[in-house]
Amino acid sequence: MSNESLANLMTETRKFAPPAEVAADANVTAAAYEAAAEDRLAFWAEQARRLSWETAPAQTLDWSNPPFAKWFADGRLNVAYNCVDRHVEAGHGDRVAIHFEGEPGDSRAITYAELRREVSRAAHALTELGVATGDRVAIYMPMLPETVIAMLACARIGAPHSVVFGAFSADALAARIEDADARVVITSDGGYRRGAPSALKPAVDEALTRPGAANVRNVLVVRRTGQDVPWTEGRDVWWHELTERQPEEHTPEAFDAEHPLFILYTSGTTGRPKGILHTSGGYLTQVSYTHHAVFDLKPETDVFWCTADVGWVTGHSYIVYGPLSNGATQVLYEGTPNTPHNGRWWEIVQKYGVTILYTAPTAIRTCMKWGDDVPAAFNLESLRILGSVGEPINPEAWIWYRKHIGGDRTPVVDTWWQTETGGIMISPLPGVTAAKPGAAQVPLPGIAATVVDDNGAEVANGSGGYLALTEPWPSMLRTIWGDDQRYIDTYWSRFPGVYFAGDGAKKDTEGDIWLLGRVDDVMLVSGHNISTTEVESALVSHPRIAEAAVVGATDPQTTQAICAFVILRGGAAEEEGLVEELRAHVAKELGPIAKPKRILPVDELPKTRSGKIMRRLLRDVAENRELGDVTTLTDSTVMELIQSKLPTAS
Ligand code: WT7
Repeated sequence: MSNESLANLMTETRKFAPPAEVAADANVTAAAYEAAAEDRLAFWAEQARRLSWETAPAQTLDWSNPPFAKWFADGRLNVAYNCVDRHVEAGHGDRVAIHFEGEPGDSRAITYAELRREVSRAAHALTELGVATGDRVAIYMPMLPETVIAMLACARIGAPHSVVFGAFSADALAARIEDADARVVITSDGGYRRGAPSALKPAVDEALTRPGAANVRNVLVVRRTGQDVPWTEGRDVWWHELTERQPEEHTPEAFDAEHPLFILYTSGTTGRPKGILHTSGGYLTQVSYTHHAVFDLKPETDVFWCTADVGWVTGHSYIVYGPLSNGATQVLYEGTPNTPHNGRWWEIVQKYGVTILYTAPTAIRTCMKWGDDVPAAFNLESLRILGSVGEPINPEAWIWYRKHIGGDRTPVVDTWWQTETGGIMISPLPGVTAAKPGAAQVPLPGIAATVVDDNGAEVANGSGGYLALTEPWPSMLRTIWGDDQRYIDTYWSRFPGVYFAGDGAKKDTEGDIWLLGRVDDVMLVSGHNISTTEVESALVSHPRIAEAAVVGATDPQTTQAICAFVILRGGAAEEEGLVEELRAHVAKELGPIAKPKRILPVDELPKTRSGKIMRRLLRDVAENRELGDVTTLTDSTVMELIQSKLPTAS
């Protein structure tokens, strides 16, 4: 960004107070902010007592060697014991932990007692394969109960897992196996995707031909689809054959709070993927507390559903470690939202009586595009809290989510965090905060976040700049695996002593925080820094626009010119004068400075597999450059489609 701070253009003023019944019975009230403000470390020490420790920590934070934090360093615990066994010991063994829903419609309910048996067997199985404490295990799986079981089995024996998203290529898998130096890979024959079995094992076989993967001794294969699998004798082992003959009792060993729990590679739109390292005690404390606070989870009655893939941090923290440490009952769904029909998600909400739903803005906008009548055909009255994560949620998408999914009654919590932060950092609390559509608003109790200018000074209310985290937090990344210097350079060098998140943000006149997209995506137009998010939100607030992606293209007059790619609602047919009308609409919403120079209707937008728009590629198109790397796109043909539209532009 230039020295001009981010322009504060959007003036969304709607507010939604917490419903009285949520406020009256909320897990966390306004008192938590006061307690944390009074003594932040005492507050986190208190939250750590949510967990069961073999040795309770006397220390809270060791920040003697910043930016390398140690939380609860003299405490010892077993993460899997906290997520499974202790609930059985407390008499909740019969409670369903996971309602698994397969894409073809098969289902399986797994109680906490059963989960304990399965995790115990899998832990023995890994030990039999020679996996020792500290060895890394790669997990390359579809969304299956065994995926969760495998992660917990690793945690149980102190073997850090590295989950690689099941749709990544053999090359991506090989690079991650090599960087983490994994010794065992857990995978499956395949999984169901868009109505058909889709193979996974061949990608593992291919990855293991690469020299960097030479240290992998065994491949443990879960049988899901029953399809034919190529087999390497002596290396490959069936999960069911190995686990079935293991004892169902396993004594969990306690590890240091700072024992590595997992490595997770950021999808990264640029550069080599970074292996984000998370450890045990602080991580579990924060994901457990935030899941309890932000979703107001009542384990006896709620049915929680996070639609993310376990291959992303959202799945790690809010499918596996947060919900299970809290003894929640949750839904785990294998497939795509539109198989076999566009209402599949809402059918699942109805079937299991889901009370809390956590999903991403990209999914919400897709559902908006499919039409209001799709969710209207199902009974969604069980829902009481809705969550959003992954990118800024446009106010119109927020309003649609609340109205058409939440029956105009549920709070919507817009949760800001990152792979690096491990857990939720900024979010409304459903029983406390008067919610503003499109804003994550307030740092959670115990979290210190603000917006700073180019010099690292906090901005005044009503101004924009960069999001910064000004105090360490329990679930923070500890380093980038094998590269401490890159950890320092990436996050701690922009502003001394402060964590740089890489996101643009602003404070509104009441001091609430609005996230405005990655700093790389901020545009410079005639000396003004303008957020792509705000222009996109203005476009999406027009009734003809379903989705929008905005980029700044090099321009001789204005430095950058705003260029918008839009998907039209109700078919792509573009009526006479529509582009002019859209430009005028943005000017009216945000001011003339934000008026796009070009608006290009397209059929699809380029997205990463985690649903983020790849603006970098759109910038290549807008600047008539050759396209950069398209390998992390969900569908690489999208770019050809967009380029074929180009002659009609401007
Ligand atoms: C980046 C982190 C957090 C788990 C999923 C993504 C963006 C995330 C929000 C939000 C605005 C958001 C940020 C952040 N982001 N949540 N509620 N509002 N932006 O994890 O892949 O590590 O991405 O996602 O840009 O830095 P990730």
